[in-house]
Amino acid sequence: MNMNSTDKPYSRFDHDAHARSRPDDDFWGQIRRTVGGKPVSEEQIAMIVQAIRSALNFNSQDVLLDLACGNGALASRMFGDLKSYCGVDFSERLIDIGKKYFEKLPDFIFEKNGVADYARQEQNPRRFTKVLCYGSFAYFSEAEAQSVLKALFDVFVNVERIFIGNLPDRDRAIKFYGAEKLNPIELSDHTSQIGIWRSQQEFIDLAAGAGWHCRFSKMPEEFYAHHYRYDVLLTRQPK
Ligand SMILES: C[S@@+](CC[C@H](N)C(=O)[O-])C[C@H]1O[C@@H](n2cnc3c(N)ncnc32)[C@H](O)[C@@H]1O
Repeated sequence: MNMNSTDKPYSRFDHDAHARSRPDDDFWGQIRRTVGGKPVSEEQIAMIVQAIRSALNFNSQDVLLDLACGNGALASRMFGDLKSYCGVDFSERLIDIGKKYFEKLPDFIFEKNGVADYARQEQNPRRFTKVLCYGSFAYFSEAEAQSVLKALFDVFVNVERIFIGNLPDRDRAIKFYGAEKLNPIELSDHTSQIGIWRSQQEFIDLAAGAGWHCRFSKMPEEFYAHHYRYDVLLTRQPK
């Protein structure tokens, strides 16, 4: 529990500890893709896969970088669309699960690392053509978010599209929490349960700082998080 100047307490989220509290084969539970504590349905997962495919428009030569990939259960649904794949996540538990259940050496691999450190250290960034970051971006600190977007723009020069999915919308936070419970400090804390809430305008400003152009979309109304989240596709701004 964290107390702050507004006196409204809120709890932090530890991705690795949470994943360790779930059995090996509870892939959605490990990354909290749950409703009322139960894994979301296959229809919900299919909607996510459809949104990613439609935004990233894969072809068989694509090399996908999956930032904060979790256990890779989501991306593994798209392995058949791709030439190769690298999933990066800082949770040892989730990367161990990814390696055990989804890794297919040598072309579909997982690496334990923080996203900004990974982006700085990658030896062959030019091989990547597309980037996915689903349900994770809000958990990066502001500095890490800026650094990774800048590295993707400057160094991952063959990346033409980045799909960032399931972002919590700052303009909908009041409806989500209600005025009584809404805590502005929590909404700007990447270690909180939901991470940093940003309005679409805030996201445009963040992405533009690194050179990216934003195109926003929403999941269908039947999607469990439709009412407070949005997706964004980043492309290079015309020179
Ligand atoms: C809700 S899960 C989403 C996992 C996966 N992208 C998916 O959609 O199935 C959020 C993930 O972000 C990872 N994460 C958060 N901050 C990170 C960071 N700075 N570097 C690497 N991974 C991070 C967590 O470990 C967790 O696996």
